[in-house]
Amino acid sequence: MKTIENTNFRGKKVLVRVDFNVPFDTFGKISDDTRIREALPTINKLINDQAAVILVAHLGRPKKGGFEKEFTLRPVAEYLSSLLNKNVVFTQSLFGENIQNGEDEISRLAKNLKNGEVMLLENIRFYPEETKGGEDLAQKLAKLSDCYVNDAFGAAHRAHSSTAIVAKYFPNDKYFGLLMQSEIENLERLLKNPQRPFTAIIGGSKVSSKIGVLENLMDKVDYLLIGGGMCYTFFKAIGHNIGSSLCEDDKIETAKQIIEKAKQKQVKLLLAQDNIITDRFANDAKPQNTDSIDIPDGFMGMDIGEKTIQEYEKIIRQSQTILWNGPMGVFEFENFARGTNAIAHTIAQTTEANHAFSAIGGGDSVAAIKKSGFADKISYISTGGGAMLEYIEGKKLPGIEAILN
Ligand code: 3PG
Repeated sequence: MKTIENTNFRGKKVLVRVDFNVPFDTFGKISDDTRIREALPTINKLINDQAAVILVAHLGRPKKGGFEKEFTLRPVAEYLSSLLNKNVVFTQSLFGENIQNGEDEISRLAKNLKNGEVMLLENIRFYPEETKGGEDLAQKLAKLSDCYVNDAFGAAHRAHSSTAIVAKYFPNDKYFGLLMQSEIENLERLLKNPQRPFTAIIGGSKVSSKIGVLENLMDKVDYLLIGGGMCYTFFKAIGHNIGSSLCEDDKIETAKQIIEKAKQKQVKLLLAQDNIITDRFANDAKPQNTDSIDIPDGFMGMDIGEKTIQEYEKIIRQSQTILWNGPMGVFEFENFARGTNAIAHTIAQTTEANHAFSAIGGGDSVAAIKKSGFADKISYISTGGGAMLEYIEGKKLPGIEAILN
C-alpha cells in the first residue's frame, strides 16, 4: 500500500483530499468533529515534513452551482486552525474568480503557500463537475500541487473529481493518507481471517440499504443479529403481524432469501423475539414491551425488547470479533433508545473483557457509542458511513482504486 508513512514531502506542494463533511448544531457549531480530528495525523505529518498542504473537502450536498453560504467550509477552516494552532489559509473564491495578472485567487494562494503552511479550498461541491467526476476540475486541482494524497475514506465510494479522477495526474506521486491506511487495515483485519466467533449486528430502518452487506457477511460471520426498523420486513416475510411498523413490502422476497441463505451457510441469523411498541411515532408515546414477535394492529415497533437484548448480549459476550452497523431502534427518542444503548455498552465491555476486536461504522451507531461514553473502548470506529458499507459489501471503492492502480 503506497502511504505517506515512509516518504518525506519536504518542499513539496501536496494536495490532500480529506472528508470534512461534519454535522453542525442549530447554533452553527460543529457538533461532531471526529472527521476533522481523524485527519490531523496526515496534516501534521505533512506540516512536520515541511510540505505546503492544500486541503480539498466537501460539505453537504449543495445543488445550485457556485457559492452557497449554508455549505461554506469557512467554519471548518477556523476550527481546523484552532486544532492545529496555526493559520489555515481560506478563501471564499472559486477557480476562475478574483483574477489578477491572468491568475485566479486560488492559484495565487496555492503558489504562495510556504512550506509548513496549510490552505483549505472552499467546498469542492460548489463546482457541479465535482460529483460528475469532471476532468476539467480534476486538472485544475492537479495544477496546484506536486503530489496527491487521498485521506477521505468517508468519500472513497464516490468517483468524483477530487476523490478519484485527480489521481491520474500523479501516476508516481499519489498516496493514501494515514486515516485511509488505518481504515483499510482495520477493515481487512475484520474481513480476512477474523477470530471466531465473529458476530455482526446489523440494524437501521431499511433492508434495502443493507442487502449487499448481509449477503457478503454471510460468507464470513458466525452470528448475524438483526435489529432496527428492518426487522419488521423480516417479520412480515415469515408471516407475523407487524401492525403499522415500518416495512418495505418490495423487499419481503429479499428478506426470505436472506433467511434461506443464512440456513444454507449455517450462519445463525437472529431476529428480535420481542419488541418495544407504541401507538404513535413520538418520544413521549407510551412504550410497551410485547412478549412476542407479533405487533397488534394500531401499534408500531420502535425498539428491540428485553428478551432480545439479553439474547443478543449473550452472543456478543461470547464473540472475539464484533461488527456493528445501524441502531436497534428509534434511538434518537430517549424512550426507545434502550436496545441501541445496551448493545453499545455490551460491545465496549466485551472488547475489554475478551480482548475482542470490535468495529463500528455508520453515523447512528457511532453517535450511540459516543453518547454511551465507551467509544474509547472500541477497537476501531470508522469515519465512513456509506464507504464502510460498500467496503464490507466487497465493492471496489473508486477513491481507493485510484491510488492503487
Ligand atoms: C459521508 O458523509 O458519508 C461522506 O462525506 C460522503 O458524502 P455524500 O454521501 O454526500 O457523498
